Amino acid sequence: MTLHRIEIEVDGDVIAAEVEGRLTLGDFLRDRAGRTGVHLGCEHGVCGACTISFNGDAVRSCLMLAVQADGARIGTIQGLAEADGTLHPVQAAMQAEYGLQCGFCTPGVVMTLASVLEAEKTPSEERLRDVLSGHLCRCTGYQGMLRAAKSLAIQAQTAAGDA
Ligand code: FES
Ligand code: FES
Repeated sequence: MTLHRIEIEVDGDVIAAEVEGRLTLGDFLRDRAGRTGVHLGCEHGVCGACTISFNGDAVRSCLMLAVQADGARIGTIQGLAEADGTLHPVQAAMQAEYGLQCGFCTPGVVMTLASVLEAEKTPSEERLRDVLSGHLCRCTGYQGMLRAAKSLAIQAQTAAGDA
């Protein structure tokens, strides 16, 4: 079996490893990098649970190979809050608006919203609703997530107006 040496920045930690060519990024993050907050549901790119930030873009980690992430900067749900425990605004909005129940889909939802907010700064409520359509949730009925999306869009617009 041929192994490939990779080096990936995960939540600010540089992790070097020797991996099989067929190892998915999702499995690497969970099993080799200790990021079990990256949830694997369908493992076919459908549910969105495994979404991470890949060089700033929201990406489904079940659809990538770990070797494709060599040299990349990856963010997971486990690196999103501040070191003192202060929640990221997306986490805070999801909590405030009851956007989760069992939490299985939640890391992916949060990482998608955080990536879009980071990239676009003032996305509209419609834009955030649209990106949520790529995430399957079996519990919530989505209403809390949609309220969180609305709240985040308003916060972003308000912050831009104040700047
Ligand atoms: S586990 Fe990756 S999209 Fe479902
Ligand atoms: S909160 Fe349970 S799957 Fe979404």
